[in-house]
Amino acid sequence: MTQREVEPLETMLDVAVELLSTIETIVPSGEFYTGLCDVVCRMTVMERAGIWLYDMGSHRVEVAGVHGADLDELARVEATVENTPIARRALLEDRVVVAQDHIEDEVPADLARVMGLTTLTCTPIAAAGRWYGVLLADRGGERFELADIDRDLLRMISKILALAAGARITMRQQERARRLADRLNLAREIHERVMQRLFGVSLVLASGRMLGDEERERCAREMSDALADLRTALRRPLARASRPSTTTLREEIERLPHQRPRLPTTVQWREGLRVPEELEGITQSVLSEALTNVRKHAEPTRVEIVVDAGDGALVFEMGNDGLAPAGTGQTPRSGGMGLRLASFEALQHGGLLEFGETDPGWWRVRLVVPMDEER
Ligand SMILES: Nc1ncnc2c1ncn2[C@@H]1O[C@H](COP(=O)(O)OP(=O)(O)OP(=O)(O)O)[C@@H](O)[C@H]1O
Ligand SMILES: [Mg+2]
Repeated sequence: MTQREVEPLETMLDVAVELLSTIETIVPSGEFYTGLCDVVCRMTVMERAGIWLYDMGSHRVEVAGVHGADLDELARVEATVENTPIARRALLEDRVVVAQDHIEDEVPADLARVMGLTTLTCTPIAAAGRWYGVLLADRGGERFELADIDRDLLRMISKILALAAGARITMRQQERARRLADRLNLAREIHERVMQRLFGVSLVLASGRMLGDEERERCAREMSDALADLRTALRRPLARASRPSTTTLREEIERLPHQRPRLPTTVQWREGLRVPEELEGITQSVLSEALTNVRKHAEPTRVEIVVDAGDGALVFEMGNDGLAPAGTGQTPRSGGMGLRLASFEALQHGGLLEFGETDPGWWRVRLVVPMDEER
């Protein structure tokens, strides 16, 4: 067995382990995808590699990481499934496609020109019928034949990537389903116990007749039982407790510049302020939802994050411009669940989540949650 066949397998395992360990985090960073492209070039004869991913939030295809080329330059190339037939074919046929002739018909013209492409490989990042993106790789603009081992390695790396992406999505869906189930149970419990009692009492009161001592006592008992039921129901967690977190709010914010698509973010973090450990989960939940939302519902030129404290409370705020004009139907301003679920989570910590268009064209999410004074 040659050296080259042995080393990749170990590297591949490292890649798989690293990928799976990122499933819990918000979004793997650009640095991470760039690291993967480095791995592709180390393990195969490829000299340049780039990963393009479909962003479900913005509905755009964005370059996520690259080796051997300038990321910012590639980020300027407008790539879609339509103007990149090679990607479409690779995804549809679920195989590595090599393009040699008429390359400018296969990829966006800007990409072919900027990169001086001659022979190009395109590997689908897809699993279980879901398309996540593609991995493009070449030998620095040289013509070449793709060897079977390189084809297999490209396939393996992209499959691992797709599996990790799929696992992340499934996990988020399960989490969401669980939270919904919690809310439904709460609604049902209140409906079945509290409402029934109150309804009984209201019938008696509405009858208009004078109540005897016994009836009055029964009404009072029903009311106090209803209150007790309500108290028990509300004491139960409304939403799932914040996830135990392996990362910190500060780390997640610091990683933002490495994420693609890059957001035009400024951060004001009160000097010396440390987020208490018990508030890491809720603040990261709000950050995560706010980031998903800004990508999904806005085309911002400004995103402002503030982490502050005062009056015994921690304040996390994120604002953005670039809202779709009201009435265009592009962003129904109420439809979803994300912010409402985050509000429940905030309530569990005795906090409050406000959100909405504070000034025309400026969207703001603001979490205020109590914490110890001395921090
Ligand atoms: N950053 C933002 N910029 C502009 N509009 C926003 C922003 N965040 C939220 N909105 C608006 O508020 C609505 C509610 O957001 P929320 O996160 O609760 O739901 P969603 O994102 O539409 O769906 P879900 O979170 O359930 O996937 C959105 O539909 C959108 O109209
Ligand atoms: Mg949302």
